[in-house]
Amino acid sequence: MLLEVRGLHVEFRTRDGVAKAVNGVSYAVDEGETLAVLGESGSGKSVTAQAVMGILDMPPGRIGGGEILFRGRDLLKLKEEERRKVRGAEMAMIFQDALSALNPVLSVGDQLAEMFVVHRGASKKDARAKAVELMDRVRIPAAAQRVRDYPHQFSGGMRQRIMIAMALALEPALIIADEPTTALDVTVQAQVMDLLAELQREYRMGLILITHDLGVVADVADRIAVMYAGRIVESAPVHDIYKAPAHPYTRGLLDSIPRLDQKGQELYAIKGLPPNLMDIPPGCAFSPRCPMAQDVCRTDEPPLYEVDRHRGSACHFWRECLNG
Ligand SMILES: Nc1ncnc2c1ncn2[C@@H]1O[C@H](COP(=O)(O)OP(=O)(O)OP(=O)(O)O)[C@@H](O)[C@H]1O
Ligand SMILES: [Mg+2]
Repeated sequence: MLLEVRGLHVEFRTRDGVAKAVNGVSYAVDEGETLAVLGESGSGKSVTAQAVMGILDMPPGRIGGGEILFRGRDLLKLKEEERRKVRGAEMAMIFQDALSALNPVLSVGDQLAEMFVVHRGASKKDARAKAVELMDRVRIPAAAQRVRDYPHQFSGGMRQRIMIAMALALEPALIIADEPTTALDVTVQAQVMDLLAELQREYRMGLILITHDLGVVADVADRIAVMYAGRIVESAPVHDIYKAPAHPYTRGLLDSIPRLDQKGQELYAIKGLPPNLMDIPPGCAFSPRCPMAQDVCRTDEPPLYEVDRHRGSACHFWRECLNG
């Protein structure tokens, strides 16, 4: 397995108390595989990713337990210097907002070239040629001229392509894309997503794709992990989830996707709000919002039940959910 997160806990100490952002998350991604991580705002998707990348804000963040195995090595046990090497060359991250992730005072060519100079010891000239090649690869028109331009001189979609190029430069085994297309308009979103999926296949990378959008997931992901209040509530191959969700929260997310054939109808929304992470309710954290909740849900926290060999659901009533 390329990456295996096991029982990860992350909390933030703030003035108001301790926010339990990640509460025992486990997920895995293999080479050439795409794992989509879904869930409402605040469910811990980004914090989990930051822990994997080793870029968590510590303090106020603190890893409360768990393992992050990358090719069998626990990243949490590495020294910062070793960790930095892994981060540069073996895993890379693509953020939502390219403008703040890229350096505004360096040309995009210089930023790309620097990767090859610093990590590969390339000459300036070779590094520059590589930069143009990469910009071509992510389909920046007139790449050879545009290497001299600065990030602000590109459109949002083109900037996102440049960030993808940066992430790809050292051909990492794992890429984490945290809502890579959220800031773009819909047509550009699809182009950038297609490009990312194509490169992922070509380079046989593992890809963790964090998104709110179940719509894009069907085409690109192999597996889905659904997060709620810092836990994985359902984990399954993508087609299984679309056929029949095994958790009421997943069902709620699926029902909230706008559908062309239901134009004009009011869009379904899951009732209520996610819990306060400083005060997560006992039992199942989703129970206050769950249309299927019974007494047991308010007292006993469900484990991740094995639905089948490839699938888990943290719902006491996953069978009922599966059967509609
Ligand atoms: N530096 C920080 N200090 C305090 N709390 C934090 C910090 N970073 C994240 N959190 C908290 O951790 C929780 C999980 O945040 P996270 O960013 O992982 O959510 P998310 O699932 O990525 O949401 P979104 O879809 O909005 O990006 C949130 O309640 C957030 O407020
Ligand atoms: Mg996030």
